[in-house]
Amino acid sequence: FQTGMLAGKRVVITAGPTREAIDPVRYISNHSSGKMGYALAQACAEAGAICTLISGPTQLNCPPHCQRIDVESAQQMHEAALKAVNDCDIFIATAAVADFRPLQAADQKIKKQADSDTMTLEMVKNPDILADVANSQQRPFCVGFAAETQDVERYARGKLERKNLNMVIANDVSQQGIGFNSDDNQVLIVDAKGSKALDKLSKAELARHLIREISERFQKAD
Ligand code: C5P
Repeated sequence: FQTGMLAGKRVVITAGPTREAIDPVRYISNHSSGKMGYALAQACAEAGAICTLISGPTQLNCPPHCQRIDVESAQQMHEAALKAVNDCDIFIATAAVADFRPLQAADQKIKKQADSDTMTLEMVKNPDILADVANSQQRPFCVGFAAETQDVERYARGKLERKNLNMVIANDVSQQGIGFNSDDNQVLIVDAKGSKALDKLSKAELARHLIREISERFQKAD
């Protein structure tokens, strides 16, 4: 791991879950801890990069020498990301963005209906932040994550092509002790040239390896 590897490069990372409001007191979200994204932000800063972390709600502290922009919803994260990548070299999307949001967040707390045992919430698709960044005018080097439960490599490669990415970092979330909310992770790096499996590591160690892998490919692409 070289400390000056990304000296002066601007890196934007999305991390954590998003919260999609149902009404003023309720939301839809997921169990993402944000650990992988924060570990990558820390490794980026250690490598000399100017790092912006666009984060959904997490329990984590912002790593030293990183700037954090706090957001809640996917739409807020989308807006913040497109603004931040205007002037950036590498974009890394680790956030677990909600695929859908309630079509309309109610202005007032939704009351229980005494005469009904069911309730229906109409949902609408959220924008794909990573795909929109990858198709933006000043397209940075784009890295996506893929959490899969089967056919990891095939689905990751599909994502690489469909979203127009430089790299996809994929893991099998059906395996115990890695991925979501865990401290360890084991990943497969997929790019246009092929695939590379990394050993199981702590998210902090893995982040350093990944920043090196990203940095090498970014320098070649530059
Ligand atoms: O399509 P899928 O959600 O599996 O793709 C995962 C990758 O895309 C992750 O890098 C995630 O951060 C990013 N993503 C995004 N915006 C979305 C959905 C996913 O940036 N709305």
